[in-house]
Amino acid sequence: MIIHNEYKGKKVLVTGHTGFKGAWLVAILDTLGADILGYALEPETKNCIYNEIDGNSKCKSIIGDIRDKEKLKQVITDFQPDYIFHLAAQALVIRSYSIPSETFEVNAVGTANILEAITLLNQKCTVVVITTDKVYENKEWERPYKEEDRLGGYDPYSASKACTELVISSFRNSFFNVNDFPKHQKAIVSVRAGNVIGGGDYSENRIIPDIIRALTRKEEIVLRSPKSIRPWQHVLEPLFVYLKLGILIDKDPKKYSRAFNIGPKVDDVLTVEKLVQRAIKTWGKGEYVTTGEKKVHEAGILKLDISLIKDLLGWKPVYSPEEAIDKTIQWYKESNKNDFTKQQIEDYLDAVS
Ligand SMILES: NC(=O)c1ccc[n+]([C@@H]2O[C@H](COP(=O)([O-])OP(=O)(O)OC[C@H]3O[C@@H](n4cnc5c(N)ncnc54)[C@H](O)[C@@H]3O)[C@@H](O)[C@H]2O)c1
Repeated sequence: MIIHNEYKGKKVLVTGHTGFKGAWLVAILDTLGADILGYALEPETKNCIYNEIDGNSKCKSIIGDIRDKEKLKQVITDFQPDYIFHLAAQALVIRSYSIPSETFEVNAVGTANILEAITLLNQKCTVVVITTDKVYENKEWERPYKEEDRLGGYDPYSASKACTELVISSFRNSFFNVNDFPKHQKAIVSVRAGNVIGGGDYSENRIIPDIIRALTRKEEIVLRSPKSIRPWQHVLEPLFVYLKLGILIDKDPKKYSRAFNIGPKVDDVLTVEKLVQRAIKTWGKGEYVTTGEKKVHEAGILKLDISLIKDLLGWKPVYSPEEAIDKTIQWYKESNKNDFTKQQIEDYLDAVS
């Protein structure tokens, strides 16, 4: 999957640029020569990937709330983006139990705010909205979920992202109907990624940051759900798919204006315990215990069917889950995060060229 010079000099708005995936996306777009504008809240902590990669040298950063519709409209009409990658979200399941209505506001209404703002643009604009594999009504099936499966969401985060999918399809039907594309020139694709791992995630209650925090403090890693199976994938995999979809939907809006799953190969899933064992091996030493208590309801099994993206994009994952874990742990061990992030991006580009 090669991305040639499509993003060179293009105006790209990245929402959520101060977060884990957004900062990686800024680093990639910077490598590809895009003119990048970020819109998000301040990083929650000083210790964050956006600062570690010197994000301010790679993009123009606007600190703003996605719920501030008027500010967002102003930013979008001033910048006139060719592409928008919408990643800003309240992205944590456990936090969504403490701030449920805010999670819906940020994730579902925030997406509506972005899509309403682009109705004001007179030129072409392509939007890639990032949702999640958790949008499906989870029946604890062995069978991987397909894009047509019923949407649901047990916890507020998952349900808010299922709502986001409905917001997208409503805007697509009502304002940006693909049959009228020549008139409005707006195309929207949503991407449902599985559990993403990579360097630079410092979030609370996520497995990799929890592992790194315990290992650096020389404490035991406490596992809540060692037997849970998740579609782990390295952060560069979905990000390059978002970029590729941005280009393809631009060229053929009818074909790509829809939702896509993205994750590892169906049988390339690992339990939480296997992930932790591999992480400890790559780190060099460490211990874990499986006595952690579940704080909230968590799905036991979640697999994604990625045949649609394979068929339409000819895409397949570059890294196995084990390689993804190794690359992630190596990132946290490195002292020069900016150089190492660039190195990992270049290695990925070499692997897909
Ligand atoms: N990390 C994963 O495993 C994973 C998996 C699937 C989908 N996703 C999705 O990918 C996207 C990025 O996730 P992440 O892991 O980088 O999350 P993150 O928490 O690291 O970053 C979230 C970003 O959104 C911004 N944000 C939050 N609330 C905002 C608000 N009210 N207004 C403006 N900006 C706001 C934050 O400032 C930050 O820049 C999210 O949409 C998330 O749901 C993540």
